[in-house]
Amino acid sequence: MCGIVGYIGQNDTKEILLHGLEKLEYRGYDSAGIAMLHEAGINLTKVKGRIAALRESVDHTVHATMGIGHTRWATHGVPSEVNAHPHRSASGRFTLVHNGVIENYQELKREYLHDVNVVSETDTEVVVQLMEKLYDTYQDTAEAFRQAIRLLKGSYAIGMMDARDPDHLYVAKNKSPLLIGLGDGFNVVASDAMATLQVTDQYLEIYDQEVVIVSRNVVEVQKLNGAVVDRKPYTAQIDVRDIEKGTYPHFMLKEIDEQPFVMRNIINAYQNENNELKLDADIRSAMQQTDRVYIIAAGTSYHAGLVGKSLMEKIANIPVEVHVASEFSYNMPLLSDHPLFIFISQSGETADSRAVLVKIKEMGYPAVTMTNVPGSTLSREADYTLSLHAGPEIAVASTKAYTAQIAVLAILAVDTAQAKGIELNFDPMQELAIAANAMEMLTDQKEEMKGLASDYLPTTRNAFFIGRSADYNVCIEGALKLKEISYIQAEGFAGGELKHGTIALIEEGTPVIALATQANVNGAIRGNVQEVVARGANAMVISMKGLEQDEDTFVLPHVHELLTPLVSVVPMQLLAYYAALDRGCDVDKPRNLAKSVTVE
Ligand code: G6P
Repeated sequence: MCGIVGYIGQNDTKEILLHGLEKLEYRGYDSAGIAMLHEAGINLTKVKGRIAALRESVDHTVHATMGIGHTRWATHGVPSEVNAHPHRSASGRFTLVHNGVIENYQELKREYLHDVNVVSETDTEVVVQLMEKLYDTYQDTAEAFRQAIRLLKGSYAIGMMDARDPDHLYVAKNKSPLLIGLGDGFNVVASDAMATLQVTDQYLEIYDQEVVIVSRNVVEVQKLNGAVVDRKPYTAQIDVRDIEKGTYPHFMLKEIDEQPFVMRNIINAYQNENNELKLDADIRSAMQQTDRVYIIAAGTSYHAGLVGKSLMEKIANIPVEVHVASEFSYNMPLLSDHPLFIFISQSGETADSRAVLVKIKEMGYPAVTMTNVPGSTLSREADYTLSLHAGPEIAVASTKAYTAQIAVLAILAVDTAQAKGIELNFDPMQELAIAANAMEMLTDQKEEMKGLASDYLPTTRNAFFIGRSADYNVCIEGALKLKEISYIQAEGFAGGELKHGTIALIEEGTPVIALATQANVNGAIRGNVQEVVARGANAMVISMKGLEQDEDTFVLPHVHELLTPLVSVVPMQLLAYYAALDRGCDVDKPRNLAKSVTVE
């Protein structure tokens, strides 16, 4: 979603901002802009569209010593140059970028800005216009900034420049992520460390309702009343190479390929030298004390949660409910006596999930966040964190985080079972290792998947995925992957449910992808395949070794039946990837989508 980069120092401000914005492209955006302060004043460039266009439009003769840049994912107002950030105050003195949503912007506009010509449709412009109004009253930029921030309701990460003050960059944060990166003779501001890793790995965390005044050599963190806060820096644990594509044409393909290695990372991270599981003792005891687990998540993470439910119920004998975060907030089910909440979030920043976390913490319930970004908002605000160890995921369509989530949920289920004294008739870590090998065999069969994508999905406008039991959960993820990046309208269905309505859509040649990896429903799903074939469907059956039939299109290597989602999702990811490529789609940055959705 929206991204912020800011810089103050003597280096090439323009290049640092543009490079930083390019590193934030993966989060999704539809317009972008930068503002730079130089001797002649503020140089502002905004474009609708890609950073490449911004790069072309920027005045390359400008030598600036401070600047702010932004990628915007439209919420208030269409994607356009005028709505793109940075926004400027009426006199042009203050320039500001903002991530998040200012909930009271209409009230602020009515109360303070009735005589100001607000040019954009955004909530953000109200903040910068308000800043100028308050400056008129306080005649001090830092004080006016703090006062403006105090009036805001909602979520924000803000970077602001005063054209008459080349020595300070003004920053504030509430609910939306923002970091300060520390350099030698310069400092940077970023909504995501990825944007500035090329210049520093030293960061200061900023907490909600703090203001930061950043100069070249000093960073001062303040409370809203101006009191200075002492904050120690930390070293970002991200390897710059992890956020490069290397020889891959797309991040998505790289991330699909990384899945077997991620599985091995997870095995190493959650096992000690005696091959025993090592989990935080507090998480273990929270799992023992609960009478029902509530998994809260969005998108692909929600789909991983559905797989997790069946793992936890089957392995650890604990009842689990899985809820879409945006629904749970407003339509909370009756809770059990001792609920434990598990938030699954690749980014750890999803606003819908955070809204639930805030609510259930107010109610006094314990929470675990399972995330790929320890230190993210959801991780900081929950009681415990389970790390995914997947490495940065850049492609908008989630792949390796999904399988990492399933693996960590499986480990949590096994650990809980062991703590409860439940005997397992399989060696879970060995089975995970077998699944990792199977994933590797599949990622080696890309050419076959490419061929299947062009045979089955070349011109279709829709596609259906059917499966039963564990396969159904993977089918809805497979359908999501396909629609996210190829824009083919795709739906995942429980094999037995298709005939209760949706079968009406099956026509001559409609692609139906069926998963058959579960012994107890093998006969039933094949019956469902016959039903669609009889109506003209072009059926692709993906089965598993041991359950295969002669006419099957593709046979997956055999893995433990509880872990099949780890393996069966890989061909789905590759089919989506190649179908999107065939259609000339922007695989890593699909239209309208954002990697980390920080608005509700
Ligand atoms: C966005 C992304 C999805 C992701 C979802 C949840 O919609 O486009 O790929 O699954 O957010 O994200 P999270 O970071 O909470 O897992």
